[in-house]
Amino acid sequence: MQIVILKDAKEVAAYGADIFAAQLIHNPQSVLGLATGSTPVALYQDLIARNRNAEVSFKNVRTFNLDEYLGLTGSHRQSYRHFMNEQLFNHIDIDKHNTHVPQGDAPDPFVACDDYEQAIASAGGIDLQLLGIGRNGHIGFNEPSSGLTSRTRIKTLTKATIEDNARFFSADEFQPYLSITMGIGTILDARKVVLLATGENKADAIRATVEGPLSAACPASALQLHRNAVIVIDEAAASKLADIEFYKHIEAQNQKLLKRLGK
Ligand code: PGA
Repeated sequence: MQIVILKDAKEVAAYGADIFAAQLIHNPQSVLGLATGSTPVALYQDLIARNRNAEVSFKNVRTFNLDEYLGLTGSHRQSYRHFMNEQLFNHIDIDKHNTHVPQGDAPDPFVACDDYEQAIASAGGIDLQLLGIGRNGHIGFNEPSSGLTSRTRIKTLTKATIEDNARFFSADEFQPYLSITMGIGTILDARKVVLLATGENKADAIRATVEGPLSAACPASALQLHRNAVIVIDEAAASKLADIEFYKHIEAQNQKLLKRLGK
């Protein structure tokens, strides 16, 4: 894993946006894996600005989101489809037909899960997958105990995740407790993975991801198996890592080498 430790959330978003922009410039037909939550919002704003400057285009891009609440239609204001439209898709030159979010109101959600896997495979797989991380180490809605080779399926949300997400729902509003999510195996199949985390409340999950055992107790620890995973975190999220100075040293050496090679 490449561990990148930056000053604050602003730098984390800019670093993440640079990776996405480089991918889009390298391959304008990229297949992107996208995420919801508060962490990616600043990255999306950065990409919107770069799209307006004609630095990147989404015209030939296809996207697959990690997850969706089971039981919500895409037009529900708490659905992740709605979130993606509002935070990104409505503001860039993407064809919405090329944007995919699991169908929360599918007549048969089991079939919808298999269809989602099929659609990703038909698109040629995901080139670059964006991830946030839950306080409990979840990626997508793969909660602790998720199979490390799991595929897109229905998952029950933990109490902690329901509580973390309650801030988005009003008191009298139905808050789903089930989801459709890409599996950990689905995520590991992406050719490159970028996980962003900021703030002290993510520090335990980041420590378990980077330095903990490979374990279903921390689903993000599965990224230890990935050959091209980048963990981009701020100082606060990095604060519980055992060897921050070593990770910074490695990254400085990496950058020096790339510069020497003119990359
Ligand atoms: P957050 O959510 O970005 O809102 O912290 C991350 C997640 O739960 O995956």
